[in-house]
Amino acid sequence: MIDITTLSELTIDGKLSLGPGASSKDLFEFYGDDLRTWFHQQRASHSAIMVGAGTVRSDDPELTVRHFNGPNPLRVVPTSLGDIPLASRLLNDGGATLVAVSKAAPAQVVAALAAKPNVQVVHCGDARVDLNELMDVLYALGIRSMIAEGGSRLLHSLFEADMVSRIIIKHIPVISGAVEAPTYLRPVNGTSRLSLSRWRLDDMFVKSGVGVSIYTPLAVAA
Ligand SMILES: NC(=O)c1ccc[n+]([C@@H]2O[C@H](COP(=O)([O-])OP(=O)(O)OC[C@H]3O[C@@H](n4cnc5c(N)ncnc54)[C@H](OP(=O)(O)O)[C@@H]3O)[C@@H](O)[C@H]2O)c1
Repeated sequence: MIDITTLSELTIDGKLSLGPGASSKDLFEFYGDDLRTWFHQQRASHSAIMVGAGTVRSDDPELTVRHFNGPNPLRVVPTSLGDIPLASRLLNDGGATLVAVSKAAPAQVVAALAAKPNVQVVHCGDARVDLNELMDVLYALGIRSMIAEGGSRLLHSLFEADMVSRIIIKHIPVISGAVEAPTYLRPVNGTSRLSLSRWRLDDMFVKSGVGVSIYTPLAVAA
């Protein structure tokens, strides 16, 4: 089983970005080097890092370790039809990226992704990427721990699948005021199978003026 930690930046009003279509990178403006270094240290301590295709389309992230001296994790992106821009940074910097598509992804799209240097494409699921199948593929590749940085839909699916063993939230001290900005969790098709789960606050500290809280699942007595 892969140990999955979610790591997110959340505004006071519960948003993952400052507006619909805005990049979560805008939130980096609100904190300093201490937190940046800690954040990249978290990345370096996992063997893989995952974001959903929506985040690649809106943020074009690098998902590398830059503010800490450590290894880059394998980048993992689920995208059911292979719908991420071929110009995306994580497909073109020569670092290792695994793109997970479903069997419905068009062959020419898969071929174009697989032609990128150091990019591997795997098929998991029929119409949508099946996260259980994806975890099996990653486990077979030797991945034992992964950090998932969002966005809303990927996080929702991971919680629905009961795959998360640690939640880290950086509480960015701003109110976005953007009603339509993505909230922490959002179901892919509008239908949610999430139910109440309880978490224990394991640690809480302030770095660069930002509160950081770390949660693990609270075992429920049988
Ligand atoms: N503040 C933060 O910490 C943070 C971090 C990351 C992102 N964000 C923000 O989050 C927003 C993007 O969130 P989002 O919900 O639109 O996109 P997302 O969660 O990044 O990606 C969701 C997409 O992943 C693909 N996918 C494939 N299989 C999936 C599965 N089983 N479960 C879930 N997704 C699957 C789908 O795209 P296909 O149609 O291609 O299959 C789906 O629409 C952006 O505004 C970004 O800035 C914030």
